[in-house]
Amino acid sequence: MTNYNYSVMPQPSKDVYAACLKKPDHITSDWLEPHQREYCKSEHAVWDILYSRQMDILQDRACDQFFKGLKDLNFDRGGVPDFNETNEILSSMTGWSVVPVPMLIPDHVFFFHLANKRFPAGNFIRKPDQLDYIEEPDVFHDVFGHVPMLTDPSFAKYMEAYGKAGWKAIEYNHLKALSALYWYTVEFGLLSTDQGLRIYGAGILSSAEESIFSLQGKSPNRIHLNVDRVMRTDYKIDDLQQTYFVVDSFEELFHATEQRPFDDIYQNIGASFQYAPSALLDTDHVYTRGTQEYSLRGGHASGADPV
Ligand SMILES: [Fe+2]
Repeated sequence: MTNYNYSVMPQPSKDVYAACLKKPDHITSDWLEPHQREYCKSEHAVWDILYSRQMDILQDRACDQFFKGLKDLNFDRGGVPDFNETNEILSSMTGWSVVPVPMLIPDHVFFFHLANKRFPAGNFIRKPDQLDYIEEPDVFHDVFGHVPMLTDPSFAKYMEAYGKAGWKAIEYNHLKALSALYWYTVEFGLLSTDQGLRIYGAGILSSAEESIFSLQGKSPNRIHLNVDRVMRTDYKIDDLQQTYFVVDSFEELFHATEQRPFDDIYQNIGASFQYAPSALLDTDHVYTRGTQEYSLRGGHASGADPV
């Protein structure tokens, strides 16, 4: 078994398939901005509009750990949070911090920061005419959606384990398979609770439409998480999901990942995904068999209703 040094950034060779991203000139190899951006009044106002809209929608939809995190971090004070103030509280709770980056960053840099308990957050905020759709994650998605969950000790441990898993994914040249796991958990995961399914994925928490669709839509499948299966499942990055994966607890999520060597998965999967985003397998533990009506009507591009 390889021992990796997580304090040193992994350096994938040119043969590893990864997105090509052009680093801005003022950024060093860790891709960190020297400072959090100073937001103007209208940018803080965009945060406040999104915050208040999501807080209305997320009542009885988001998990308790998310609401507790928002409160612990004082995110209800209004405006984009000051990272220094956030980090004082967050680091005392789980050892994590949030750090500003200019844009999407390369996978190997992302793994390096997560493995060292740093969550990279976009330094920009969407414009007032882009409230519902942005091409790259901004500070609202990254901080409102992701950071409250990092106050939960088990979820925080999962995120660190996920970052550390990146070294092996690079070694096996299977970044896409590990990305699918992040997608279906950290971004679009659902939690089973005594009150019913609740949202913990940041991609849902920061989206008004998907907060409702993910829980109440007839179209999507809802399936219990199986890490091996998820890492073989394709996903859509520009539309509502066709399948959501459910966990019983963040301890389950952590153990399913941390105790996996992943070698057998990487040794047995091909270069492309085995299962379509809408696939249902005989071995799935299915909560909801979706109609897939939304995507069969053409999804977002066709103006289909998110039913
Ligand atoms: Fe995200």
